Amino acid sequence: MKFFIDTANLAQIKEAQDLGILDGVTTNPSLMAKEGITGKENIIKHYLAICNIVDGPVSAEVIATDFAGMVKEGEELAKLHKNIVVKVPMIKEGIKAISYFSKKGIKTNCTLVFSAGQALLAAKAGATYVSPFLGRLDDISSDGMRLIEDIRVIYDNYMYETQILAASIRHTMHILKCAEIGADVMTGPLSSINGLFNHPLTDSGLKQFLADYQKGN
Ligand code: E4P
Repeated sequence: MKFFIDTANLAQIKEAQDLGILDGVTTNPSLMAKEGITGKENIIKHYLAICNIVDGPVSAEVIATDFAGMVKEGEELAKLHKNIVVKVPMIKEGIKAISYFSKKGIKTNCTLVFSAGQALLAAKAGATYVSPFLGRLDDISSDGMRLIEDIRVIYDNYMYETQILAASIRHTMHILKCAEIGADVMTGPLSSINGLFNHPLTDSGLKQFLADYQKGN
């Protein structure tokens, strides 16, 4: 399973990159705003800064919600850097735009996916990635993980090449369950990735090894 980090924070992206296990980055307008990155020019500069840190797919979201606007914005974004993936919302105009981008060889990430039906449409349009938001489903007492399972079955039935990018990850168990189900990618915050390191037996075991080494020196 590929690991993407879901942030626009350059320090956190660098920290994850330095671990040597990072495959890509996802951003969205809210994550950009959280870092104080506003205005088209600054946002574009920020995408380039991210692309300079990570040599892997970097999702850049369109703001337009009409087909022509999405195509214009998406083509501009795709020209910025070879690793840019155009992130398009799951709406009718978005599916049209994904289909257009797919025919032109521009990579896409269909975002804001909350049902298997939406994921099926994204695959049929030729999306490179589909982003089911599992944490937001859990937040409303729905079963986010069940959605990942359903999409996996549907995509495998027809050998769709669209990659399942499990998004809106909230904690380490989300990551582990996604890996069990066979999600192609997970995108999560640095805290969830770092959470995978933790085990008290690792800490106590290492402490003991170091103490025993000292005894002989
Ligand atoms: C990823 O592409 C999404 O934008 C992101 O995972 C949403 O996460 P959230 O529900 O924590 O905002």
